[in-house]
Parts: sequence; C-alpha cells; structure tokens
Amino acid sequence: MDTQQQQQQSQTSNNNINWDSDNCQKIKRFVIIGLLITIGILSWHFYEYFHSKPLPTAPDDVLVLSQTLFKEEAAENPYLYKVNLQGKTKSGAHDDRAPGPLFELHNDLLARDSNSTTALLQRLFNNYELDVAVPDVITAEHEQEQLDFLRAVMNTRVMKLSMRFLAKKGLVGSDYEEQLKLLHELWFTPYSRGKGILGSSSFEHVFMAELRDQNVLGMHNWLYFAEQEQQGHVDYKGWLDREETGRPNQFALAVRMSFFGINKSYISFLVGTSPELELSLYTVCFLATPKNEPCEIQLDKAKLSIVSHVWDWKGKKLIASAYVQFD
Ligand SMILES: *[C@@H]1O[C@H](CO)[C@@H](O)[C@H](O)[C@H]1NC(C)=O
Ligand SMILES: *[C@@H]1O[C@H](CO)[C@@H](O)[C@H](O)[C@H]1NC(C)=O
Repeated sequence: MDTQQQQQQSQTSNNNINWDSDNCQKIKRFVIIGLLITIGILSWHFYEYFHSKPLPTAPDDVLVLSQTLFKEEAAENPYLYKVNLQGKTKSGAHDDRAPGPLFELHNDLLARDSNSTTALLQRLFNNYELDVAVPDVITAEHEQEQLDFLRAVMNTRVMKLSMRFLAKKGLVGSDYEEQLKLLHELWFTPYSRGKGILGSSSFEHVFMAELRDQNVLGMHNWLYFAEQEQQGHVDYKGWLDREETGRPNQFALAVRMSFFGINKSYISFLVGTSPELELSLYTVCFLATPKNEPCEIQLDKAKLSIVSHVWDWKGKKLIASAYVQFD
C-alpha cells in the first residue's frame, strides 16, 4: 500500500463516518419532528376532550334548568346586532319616543353560517300568511325547512339538555325521532283561530306575528321584529320595561309599536337570545309547568316569568301564546 492509497482509504472511511453521522442527524431530526407531531395531536385531543365537556345532568326544577341553559348558551357576537332603545313610553300613550329603529341587524354576518339555527329560523319567516283568516299553504319545501331548523336546534347543547329534562319528567322518551316529532307537532301543527281556517300555528304566533281583525297578535321573537323593522313593516315607538341579564345586549324588553300601521300597546320578548334558548324555554315551561300559570325562569341576573296559554286543537294541546313577563 503506498501512501496515496492509504490516504484514499482513510478518506473513504472518513466519508463513511461523515455519512453515518449525517444519517444519524437525519434520523434524530425525524424522531424529534415525529415526537412533536405526536405531542401536537395528543394535545389537540386533550383540548377537544375538555372543550366538548359532557352535558351536565338535568336539574329537577325549571328555574334551575333556565339558569343552566343560559350558561350553556353560546355568547352571541355583540357585533352582529345593535340595540337602540331611545325613549321610554307608556302603553297607553300615543306618542313616538323613538324616531329611529330599535335594531340594527347585520344580516350578512348573522346568516354567514347558513346552517346556524339563526339562519334556519330566518328562512321560515316567509312561509306564512300574516292574516289568520287566510289559510297557510305548507309546501314540501316548507316542511323540509321546519325539519332542518328543528334538527339544527336539537343538535345544540341547550336543546339536548332541555330534552333530558323533559325525558326525566317522563314528558318525552329518550329517542331522537320521538323528541323531534314532539317539537314538530307542538310548534308546527297548523290550527285555526277562527272559522276553521288553518291560518295559525304555535310557531307562527310566538316566533312571528299574526293579524286578526285589525289586531296584532304574537310577535315575541326579536329576530322577527328586527327583520320586519328592516322591511319597514314595524314602527318602534319606545320601550316600556326592561330586565337586564348582566350580559351586554341580552335582556328582556317590552315595547309599544305599530305593525303595518296597526298600533300595539304592549309586546314583550327576549333580546339577543338564540332560537334554541327561546324554543327550549317556551317548550319546557309549556309542558312542565301547570297550564296557564306563570313559569319562573332566571337568565343570569334577570328574574322573569314565561306565560303560556293552551290552544286545544283536535285532541292536541298546542301553544296559543308564550311570552316573557316582568315580575
Ligand atoms: C295609532 O297611534 C298613533 C300615534 O302613535 C295615532 O296617531 C293613531 O291614531 C293610532 N291609531 C289608532 C287606530 O288608534
Ligand atoms: C349545511 O347542511 C347541509 C345538509 O346537512 C350540507 O349539505 C351543507 O354542506 C351545509 N352547509 C354548510 C355551509 O355547512
């Protein structure tokens, strides 16, 4: 072996060593990255586990349930709507203490998620005839929209908990389809407010409004009020009563207004609440408390009652009316 050969050999072995340590580095890096990814995935699972916390057990009492439901309620983005109360008035007054509208609704943002309970509720608003003397035509599409809305509501923690409460009281089974059917029948069965004309339903009365002989009926949902105001059908005249929950932009409100030029001296509704919270509270109060008696609820700091009345219709007990009342 001459020196040149020796040198070459030692260089090759040097190269080998270099190559080995290079590989080693690569494997190390690979293992570290793998570990980091694993840790990442694990922490995501932990986060998910704690984030999607199990539903609390249903309380025995409607008042306690209402407190829990309000806590469960996902806080509504305060930028989606503005409330402009303006002047206070009296139900017997004829003045207009509110030159501007009550609500400023950012519909584009509110309905950005087309599967949200809010967007699905708003889609139902054009399915009905306002006048109870004009029969509502319920098409297959309307029927589908009702079920889409109810299914989305049933998917929320608020309604799941309410259903557990009703099941515990023996007012509904634990089966999903049975629960869906209960809500569908209670809220969407068409009934007549006179002359046998199928022009009304629990939903239409509570979540929308109706006209009968130059009278405004119902109108107990703030999103419907806001939409009708945007369309120029509602003229807000001032507020009468207010009960704060302690959360910004969420409270109970009573107002005087006119709808299609017809004066209404007093209506009350919750402001800034989700469709699932309202549907839950009205359903639970209607089914679980003695008929026609006020049902006491508490939404954080706001102590209120829900008054509901029964409409007997062909063997079914449907909702003639349901609204918040100030204590
Ligand atoms: C409705 O209220 C307005 C004032 O807000 C009044 O001018 C009008 O006469 C009222 N209409 C009826 C039918 O009472
Ligand atoms: C909404 O729900 C429908 C039916 O479940 C689905 O096909 C659609 O992709 C959803 N849209 C969005 C924006 O999530």
